[in-house]
Amino acid sequence: MNRQKITIAELHRKKQNKEKITMMTAYDYPTASLVDQAGIDTILVGDSLGMVVLGYDSTVPVTMDEMIHHCKAVGRGAKHSFIIGDMPFMSYHSSVEKAIENAGRFIKEAGCDSVKLEGGSEMAHVVKAIVDVGIPVCAHIGLTPQTATKLSGFKVQGKDAESAKALVQSARDLEQAGAFMIVMECIPDILASKITQELKIPTIGIGAGKGCDGQVLVYHDLVGLFERFTPKFVKQYINLSPQIKEALAQFKKEVEEGTFPGPEHTFSMNPEEAKKI
Ligand code: KIV
Repeated sequence: MNRQKITIAELHRKKQNKEKITMMTAYDYPTASLVDQAGIDTILVGDSLGMVVLGYDSTVPVTMDEMIHHCKAVGRGAKHSFIIGDMPFMSYHSSVEKAIENAGRFIKEAGCDSVKLEGGSEMAHVVKAIVDVGIPVCAHIGLTPQTATKLSGFKVQGKDAESAKALVQSARDLEQAGAFMIVMECIPDILASKITQELKIPTIGIGAGKGCDGQVLVYHDLVGLFERFTPKFVKQYINLSPQIKEALAQFKKEVEEGTFPGPEHTFSMNPEEAKKI
């Protein structure tokens, strides 16, 4: 089948037709290529990069340059999926001008199709300003890892009526500001379903139940390549780490005992030529 590049119109059509939207994180060329070939609608170059690839303790230290570097690699690997570049902490907080400038880098330098930023109603003016210059913005509410300290840790958000109402209002404000899609992280399923039913734009859940218009997972969680911890909302579809460790141990053993490389991995030379060396 001749697959088309996924567009915002296609994502909105899917919501209207009640077809689920898929999103997966990727941070490099080979992963982006696999995700793209799997027919996943959207690739999020998440700032989770900081934890699952760069080894930081949180997403907070991730820089613009790191994000741009990885987004470029993803762009080379993904031909059809819609690419969302995640704006890192403090790249959109100090001023609207700075936010527009940094959002622009994701589009101009890194070739992303859109950007994502974290925050509720208090970020609606930033979303609007970026959208107004022509850059599509995906919003992100609920558990927002960049400000997890302010939220007193990685906790489910919107569990009481007051905070749930605030999240509903945030979703409304972000839609009103022009966001084309909204990620909802770690909120109760009833709340996520209510927001999904009320909004015209698609919602993508992570730890937000099945009532969302789509789902996202972090690639390294899904394939078992991140061993530090596994949140409750993660489903590990395959556990690659033990298999990779096994392959590495086998390589070490074969090199040390002299069975690798074998003749099939070795280049030969005419013995007469070899004598002249
Ligand atoms: O950075 C990321 O990967 C994300 C997802 C968890 C939604 O923001």
